[in-house]
Amino acid sequence: MGLVVTIDGPAGAGKSTAARELASRLGWSVLDTGAMYRVVTLAALEAGLDMTDSEALGALAGSIQVRLDGNLVWLGDRDVCKLIREPEITRASRYAANAPEVRKVLLGWQRKASENQNLVTEGRDQGTIVFPDALVKFYLDATDLERAERRYRELIQKGHEIHLEQVLEDQQERDARDSAREIAPMRPSDDGVRIESTGKSLEEVLNEMLGHIRKSLLERGLSETFHTF
Ligand code: DC
Repeated sequence: MGLVVTIDGPAGAGKSTAARELASRLGWSVLDTGAMYRVVTLAALEAGLDMTDSEALGALAGSIQVRLDGNLVWLGDRDVCKLIREPEITRASRYAANAPEVRKVLLGWQRKASENQNLVTEGRDQGTIVFPDALVKFYLDATDLERAERRYRELIQKGHEIHLEQVLEDQQERDARDSAREIAPMRPSDDGVRIESTGKSLEEVLNEMLGHIRKSLLERGLSETFHTF
């Protein structure tokens, strides 16, 4: 198994950007586990499944071919990276996220991704459930308003007609659900590092993360890895 750094936290805290940049500085691979839940959601909606039937969702997850490669996401031989970011998929993704059967299949995909490579992985349960032995477990957070504003700007840029109030409301609902669910609730790891990104530049967040990673590598006698970043 390769070395793993996890970044968990709520939507809009800047996890994806931080994970991608961090992976690029380290020369490691990056894994967007939210994209996995989104692909399962897309496949389930297209198959017309009853979204509340968690067994059916799990069986579907076990039968589809999903490939993630940097920013690219494939369902079978279709590039679905744009489709899975549609608000409809965002809204419906809670069914896949709440289904223990789906979480089990995706945990397998996620651990497999770390088998032959060093990995920066981001999601909600990466440090708490999937990679309890990760080198460093980050929990990246930001204020509700800052996160909603980021998401709002993204959606407007993509041509969606939406109000900030709506984005904020949807986000609060999703956060509450992600934190309250029985299985793999979103929460910081007890032995993790919490980073508040409000008012910080990406560079500041990355420097903070790299500092913790260097320290952890040193403690584990792996300081030779420093030469790669
Ligand atoms: O981070 P995101 O918005 O792309 O995540 C999509 C959905 O998947 C969202 O409902 C949260 C859920 N999710 C999860 O439950 N566990 C993860 N490790 C990643 C995402």
